Amino acid sequence: MDVIAAIKKRKSIRAFKPDPVPKGLLKKIVEQALRAPSWANTQPWEFAIAGGKKLKEIQDGFIKRGVQEPKSEVSRPYEFPEPYMARIRALQPKDRKEITKEEWDARTILNFGHYGAPACIYLLVGKSFYQQSKGINVWSMYDSGSVVQNIMLLATSYGLGTIAQAQAVIYPDIIRKVLGIPGNKVIALGISIGYPDWKNPVNKSRTAREPFDKVVKFYGFR
Ligand SMILES: Cc1cc2nc3c(=O)[nH]c(=O)nc-3n(C[C@H](O)[C@H](O)[C@H](O)COP(=O)(O)O)c2cc1C
Repeated sequence: MDVIAAIKKRKSIRAFKPDPVPKGLLKKIVEQALRAPSWANTQPWEFAIAGGKKLKEIQDGFIKRGVQEPKSEVSRPYEFPEPYMARIRALQPKDRKEITKEEWDARTILNFGHYGAPACIYLLVGKSFYQQSKGINVWSMYDSGSVVQNIMLLATSYGLGTIAQAQAVIYPDIIRKVLGIPGNKVIALGISIGYPDWKNPVNKSRTAREPFDKVVKFYGFR
């Protein structure tokens, strides 16, 4: 699959088949993704890939804790001014404008189970590189976004599906304990990965994008 096809096909998968992904394939995807660019080639990323009993242990820990205030280690948005809120609202089905707290909580729990994915790739970033004396080094997350997108496109090209999940890392202490991740690494993001269940209606919808002309302007072109 070429890059154009992979970009067009990639979407967030929210129902996976239980079939395990071979370790060799996960290795190939992440190894190829590591060609991503980064600030002065600092390559701020590391990855911890969990599957099998380890992933189950993390899921059980999250589900047992339930829906609580996130303890995310990456600063997250709490305010959504327009036009951003409108784009979030557009994710809801047309007939459902209001989402109740119970529905949100049920969705969060689905996140905790990685939507049934057999593996999760955790993005780790060195804490001293991310949290600097003069403030947050946002470029370390910008760079990490490149490698994460590489992973998602490569996975798509190998017939897999992915979803980036901030919700998968809201209780980093649980992941840290189960996988033995040292305190000097920020657990920034989870990328669930597996074989998409294309029959599940949740995987059939496609998110919209703003029209090109609304978000892009050319200067100095005729
Ligand atoms: C950094 C990041 C974090 C995300 N966290 C979550 C999450 O916790 N749970 C979830 O269901 N989707 C999550 N998403 C998926 C977005 O909702 C999704 O990418 C967006 O709606 C666009 O849809 P698409 O990926 O299908 O194109 C996340 C995406 C990104 C890039």
